[in-house]
Amino acid sequence: KRVVLAYSGGLDTSVILKWLQTTYGCEVVTFTADLGQGEELEPARKKAELLGIKPEHIFIEDVREEFVSEYVFPMFRANALYEGLYLLGTSIARPLISKKQIEIARKVGADAVAHGATGKGNDQVRFELSYYALEPEIKVIAPWREWDLTSRTKLLEFAESHQIPIARDKRGEAPFSVDANLLHSSSEGKVLENPAEEAPEYVYQRTISPEAAPDKATYITVGFEKGDAVSVDGLSLSPAALLTRLNELGKENGIGRLDLVENRFVGMKSRGVYETPGGTILLQAHRGIESITLDRGAAHLKDDLMPRYAELVYYGFWFSPEREMLQALIDKSQEFVTGEVRLKLYKGNVEVVGRSSPYSLYNQDLVTFEEGAVAYDHRDAAGFIKLNALRLRTLANRTRRIGV
Ligand code: ARG
Ligand code: SIN
Repeated sequence: KRVVLAYSGGLDTSVILKWLQTTYGCEVVTFTADLGQGEELEPARKKAELLGIKPEHIFIEDVREEFVSEYVFPMFRANALYEGLYLLGTSIARPLISKKQIEIARKVGADAVAHGATGKGNDQVRFELSYYALEPEIKVIAPWREWDLTSRTKLLEFAESHQIPIARDKRGEAPFSVDANLLHSSSEGKVLENPAEEAPEYVYQRTISPEAAPDKATYITVGFEKGDAVSVDGLSLSPAALLTRLNELGKENGIGRLDLVENRFVGMKSRGVYETPGGTILLQAHRGIESITLDRGAAHLKDDLMPRYAELVYYGFWFSPEREMLQALIDKSQEFVTGEVRLKLYKGNVEVVGRSSPYSLYNQDLVTFEEGAVAYDHRDAAGFIKLNALRLRTLANRTRRIGV
């Protein structure tokens, strides 16, 4: 029995690794992805070796470019926000990790995959829906739902008894639950569990506070091609390099913090603190370029569908026909979403202050517009308004007649 484990090198997945070997009795193959979480991956290799994984069964891959170009950017074409605010930084990374695990499982002849998500959250759903969509007969092992390490204390005891090193945060406790990648970092649990209490400053890890940000605004220009950002201040950058650059700019200006109570797919509410510095800039910039390049009907239709799209990503249905259908529609809308957006970054705020595009619907050449003499006759507006008012007048007349 061979299992491919999504292994971060952290405490939880190290315990899972040991547990799979000792209690479950299977051979473990590890997959560790560089998603831009800002951690060295070599320690994860060392740790896996130390825990008895064969070198040829330790898979470490830098997937940053694939993550941004195949997952983050397609999602940003939709301007996706879950419940109006969450930029889906964790949600969008899970399908990619799952896909890689399945690929490795095929390569090494494993019949199972495992992940470190708990039985209470969204991530278990996202991992497993992706596994099954890509490999319908795969066996899934979710240790958190199966073992008897039912508390943090028991987990720590298991770690200690198996010589697994335990990382501790600045305050001398085991750290709260963090998930990080190039798009965001999220923190949940512990001191954050009471939603009435403001999150302490030490929770934040990739942004300075808006109060500490410079008193002078930073101006930047983001270039777009067919809905994807391609340059910052005139410099062409790969997708991952571009997001990295926007993260730096966002960080320095205290941009992208979010303290949110959200509805999990499994039915409970949870409170999380998110930092999405580059993504927050990117969303504004993308809306800025769309504002001059998208037709109203197209723009409103994609805005209508956006919450559905965001919900699909949040619920873990990335590899589903309905997400792919929506994606095709959204991608089609981006044909002319090309040009430049100028933004002002200032103390936690990001504002679009300029936009331009060779395909602008705003800057249409007035001369060619008026050729044919049917440009805009303001007298037409009278009939337009009158016919639109017809129903409203009919209703008002009835109200008057029956007197409600
Ligand atoms: N609530 C977020 C989501 O469902 C993040 C979940 C993982 N975050 C964490 N700190 N463990 O997408
Ligand atoms: C977890 O439960 O593993 C993290 C939180 C979530 O998946 O929603």
